[in-house]
Amino acid sequence: MKVFVALIALFALNASVYSKYTFSTKVVDCEADYDIIQNYRDDMYEITAHLYQHIGPNAINNHFVFSPLSIWITLSAIAEGLAYPEQLVMLQVLRLPTDLCARLKYYQLATSRFVSSNDVDISSIRVLVIDEGVLINSTFHQFVYKHSLIDVVSAPLRSNPDKALEEIRRVVTVTSPNIDISGNSVILDAVDYNGLWSTAFDDAVLERSPFYSSLGDQIGAVDIMKVKRRARISHFPALNLNCLELPVGYNDRYRMMFGIILDENAAKTVNLVTSAAMIDDFLNNVTDSYIPIEIAIPRFSLTSEYDVKAILENSGVKDLWTDPAVTRLISDPAVLPSAFVHRSTIVLDKAGLKSAEFESQLLTTEYNPAFELNFIANRPFLLWLFDAESHSVLMAGAFTKPTYSN
Ligand SMILES: *[C@@H]1O[C@H](CO)[C@@H](O)[C@H](O)[C@H]1NC(C)=O
Ligand SMILES: *[C@@H]1O[C@H](CO)[C@@H](O)[C@H](O)[C@H]1NC(C)=O
Repeated sequence: MKVFVALIALFALNASVYSKYTFSTKVVDCEADYDIIQNYRDDMYEITAHLYQHIGPNAINNHFVFSPLSIWITLSAIAEGLAYPEQLVMLQVLRLPTDLCARLKYYQLATSRFVSSNDVDISSIRVLVIDEGVLINSTFHQFVYKHSLIDVVSAPLRSNPDKALEEIRRVVTVTSPNIDISGNSVILDAVDYNGLWSTAFDDAVLERSPFYSSLGDQIGAVDIMKVKRRARISHFPALNLNCLELPVGYNDRYRMMFGIILDENAAKTVNLVTSAAMIDDFLNNVTDSYIPIEIAIPRFSLTSEYDVKAILENSGVKDLWTDPAVTRLISDPAVLPSAFVHRSTIVLDKAGLKSAEFESQLLTTEYNPAFELNFIANRPFLLWLFDAESHSVLMAGAFTKPTYSN
């Protein structure tokens, strides 16, 4: 009975969404049973590869992290408010379906990945800050609110810029000294990830250990977490990477991938991750190790901030910031955001849901010789966090700078 009632509620909700929010799209039958997950994955990989190309190679020392998923959702919110035909252009840039029903399914998948519970501590804040003198279009506001795409808040950008700036920094905890608030709005998003492994690292072992450059020179030290267990591993010849996947959270709901860079030129490897197919390979090429391997990964906290506006301008998204005709359906006067700031923070520690399992017996004598029975991340490595179901890329980055320098 409960299920039945819930279903009715769901249909009622859908019906009201579609009668109200059709925008420039034709009214369509949203109850049709689409299987969009494969399309969603492909589009997610494409957008991730696209953002990665602009962020990874430009990061100082190739030491960075960002959230493709959060940036994507934030931009989707803005795209929903753009006037036709610019909206179509933006949907294409974001690889979003033109069909509203399909988009809503994408949003449902995308926004439900950031749900914190007692196994994973993750949060995503997405905010459109508008000047107090700007009136938000209520149709737009209801849509983005209902689908959890973005929050809209007002701040005294014109009358009290210092206070507005302070507020902006507080909301997303950014430190960037030069956020451009010369326009009537700014876009902000931030992701904090502090996950628990499915299996904890060994409590007893946390060692200060040397960290090397990709050339093999010792450049500092990190606190290394160790565990011995079976894991999913792979060697990627195309990137010259040794990869390890560790499950995170209950039911292994996230998959964290580490890729130790074997090439002497870490920057070259970082620059090579440019195609959606490669990201797909990360997830598909890993296989279970036959025997338990020694795993050693630094405990660390990594934060990066980006000016996404510059990245989008380089991708040809220019009108959004300057042409009131394009954003006139978002607000009155039209929003012309002068900045889009993204911050990502990832904290990795040794705690897990279960204590570490020490598997000593050999399950078979075979093993992948590329690994020499261990995975020691004491030199630059790539770092990816995927959602196991949707393959959403919650975080992508690289770790090249040790916690303690020489
Ligand atoms: C993944 O495996 C396929 C098939 O073995 C291989 O062609 C491809 O290069 C691998 N991917 C990477 C990134 O190395
Ligand atoms: C608000 O947006 C809706 C949907 O795009 C549009 O039909 C309506 O005209 C807008 N309202 C104003 C006051 O611009």
